Amino acid sequence: MFVKNAWYIAAMADEVGRTLKQRWILDEPVVMYRTADGKPVALYDVCPHRSMPLSKGELLGDQLRCGYHGLVFAPDGRCTHIPAQTHIAPSWCVKSYRLVEKWRWLWIWMGDPKSADESLIPDFHWNEDPDWIPTGGHFEIGCHYQLLVDNLLDLSHLAFVHRTTIGTDAVAENPATVSREGNAVRIVRSMPSCPAPPLYAKLIGYSGEIDRSQDIVFTPPSQVVITSRSVPKGSNEADKILEYRVLNGITPGTKSTCHHFWAVSRNCVPDPQVTKLFHEGSVRAFSEDVTVLETQQTMLDRMAGRIAWMHYNADGGGNAARVIVDKLLKREAAGATERAAMS
Ligand code: FES
Ligand SMILES: [Fe+2]
Repeated sequence: MFVKNAWYIAAMADEVGRTLKQRWILDEPVVMYRTADGKPVALYDVCPHRSMPLSKGELLGDQLRCGYHGLVFAPDGRCTHIPAQTHIAPSWCVKSYRLVEKWRWLWIWMGDPKSADESLIPDFHWNEDPDWIPTGGHFEIGCHYQLLVDNLLDLSHLAFVHRTTIGTDAVAENPATVSREGNAVRIVRSMPSCPAPPLYAKLIGYSGEIDRSQDIVFTPPSQVVITSRSVPKGSNEADKILEYRVLNGITPGTKSTCHHFWAVSRNCVPDPQVTKLFHEGSVRAFSEDVTVLETQQTMLDRMAGRIAWMHYNADGGGNAARVIVDKLLKREAAGATERAAMS
């Protein structure tokens, strides 16, 4: 079960062009491409004739031709050509999805198209802001998307999973405070007088202790923005501040896979070498998460129905996020039941 009436990142903007790209999103196969004038298109990737993935076909101008028997579909999903047949009933169509380019990502709306309000796209502007320097990427992970949300909302794991990059004991030993702001969850951790993690020493040359903080905001169903800020202990010198945002757009793939679209964006040390270090350090750290999350999913699959999780304080953010998502799922299910009753 996934929240459908929401914007999710479907792809990085430069991943989709004049070739057909398939991606599973919310347990549906989706084919994406761009029209000749650059407009992004997303269609259900199953031919209504005999279920050939349309992504195995080819583009004819702005239209897509199935690679099996040659049916042609327009960007809005209408079938425009059936070989050797003049009549095409309106029922010959595939679902088309709203796909919007914003902040250098393509955002998809999988639910009711009438509710697809672009103003609801999460504020990820730090990925396309002249004052910020971003770097980013995409992981496809073999785990349920909420395991990744849990992971990002409880950064105490940095001390154990990311010890060689961004983790120190201080992250686990300083408690975080959790608050609800409407449908958002905020998790704040302050770490005064702690050692600089190895990556920070490389990035900005910290030696000795630093004052560090993390401010995490979750917005449903699965977006997480982390603000990380560090300064040498007791200092407030502008050129010694290391501040960055970690933008996480998490998109369910299937029941046990998800897409992690991430960007790390900073407004300090504008050195391309630092961007390279940020990129490499982030890929390394997120790869460490992938190992943990896929191992966790394997255990959950094998132990299905035989596991009951225990909780402690650090789970407060992740648990609050799950409560909000459950509420949205119930609301969508009630709306679907209402619509069915009225039809
Ligand atoms: S399966 Fe697509 S045209 Fe037959
Ligand atoms: Fe992590």
